[in-house]
Amino acid sequence: MANDQTTVRFGIIGCAQIAIKLCKAISRAPNATLVAIGSRSVEKASKFAGDNGLPETVRVYGSYEEVLEDGEVDAVYVPLPTALHVKWAVMAAEKRKHVLLEKPVAMNVSEIDRILEACEANGVQFMDGTMWMHHPRTQKMKEVLSDTQRFGQLQLVHSCVAYNPGPQFLTHNIRVKPELDGLGALGDVGWYCIRAILWAVDFQLPTSVLALPGTVHNDAGVILSCGASLHWADGRLATFHCSFLSYLSFDLTALGTKGCLRLHDFIVPFDENFGYGSFWEASQVDFAKQGDKRWCSEPNQHKVESEEAQEVLMVAEFSRLVEAVERGGGKPEKSWGVVSRKTQVVVDAVRESIERGYKTVELITGKSAS
Ligand SMILES: *[C@@H]1O[C@H](CO)[C@@H](O)[C@H](O)[C@H]1NC(C)=O
Ligand SMILES: *[C@@H]1O[C@H](CO)[C@@H](O)[C@H](O)[C@H]1NC(C)=O
Repeated sequence: MANDQTTVRFGIIGCAQIAIKLCKAISRAPNATLVAIGSRSVEKASKFAGDNGLPETVRVYGSYEEVLEDGEVDAVYVPLPTALHVKWAVMAAEKRKHVLLEKPVAMNVSEIDRILEACEANGVQFMDGTMWMHHPRTQKMKEVLSDTQRFGQLQLVHSCVAYNPGPQFLTHNIRVKPELDGLGALGDVGWYCIRAILWAVDFQLPTSVLALPGTVHNDAGVILSCGASLHWADGRLATFHCSFLSYLSFDLTALGTKGCLRLHDFIVPFDENFGYGSFWEASQVDFAKQGDKRWCSEPNQHKVESEEAQEVLMVAEFSRLVEAVERGGGKPEKSWGVVSRKTQVVVDAVRESIERGYKTVELITGKSAS
């Protein structure tokens, strides 16, 4: 950052639908401001700027390169289709732009490794766009899982993330085009399941992954629906199902030896616009006493307030890290790249298990186990 102001100046490359949310988040986050957007044509970029009421000060470019060449852009948000991530994220890092990259981050681990290596070599911050990680509810739920008195030892995590966008989407949307988003539902919604599972186990990779039979592909061979089980050497187990074919579901359940935690909206709190997110928690200490009408007390609802929407908190956290590098002389925070990479390792393993006819994929050797 050549300027001495205290804001991180964002550019956005690609005017995807999700970019609208990020434009608003950047404008709300302290110390962040949007200065440039780029699309494949200047007409598209101008239309996006007009439709979303972006200030006139935002520079509008007809290419992604121009955003990366703009010396007043400190960081870029990249909502492009997954197949384009490696090219543009690497180029952004090489232009010394910090990278906020939409999920799924890459087509496979070797691509994310190229991205992370470019970020490291150029001293720029990396973060993926998994917004729910930044809601204060997530931290509160972690405290519940860590409370061995009430929750005990984690036994099982299950996540089911689905939505049914309809037949038109399943043949035409970029999320099901092999050359653009070839991971299909596994990359789009399975990413959330896998991230939630890894989050629950403190990002310890499973020792093996086994896809569940019954994967549905579209005519182009892209996954529309699939599931898998993940196994750890100490006996912990996780299962997930992700789909473009079922009614909306954002479910996460974690079972411990003494307690459980569940919620049906972990990706975006239903009550986000009311300023809080909820989850339900129960423990054996809640079992009914004699004389109680209920055989078991209902799970406790925990409401966690949040001053800002989770995407605003994500942009604020990313900006804080960027500032620490640019002004504090610090090093980029590597943990965000580590969790992205682990998520991708599991995505790859699920895909491999499906491709090998539902064979177990071991994840115990090499870089994958770290
Ligand atoms: C914004 O930047 C200023 C100056 O670097 C810093 O003191 C302040 O804490 C930042 N605010 C937030 C919310 O990060
Ligand atoms: C990773 O994905 C890219 C794009 O689909 C492909 O060209 C490459 O061969 C893949 N690499 C591995 C190691 O699978």
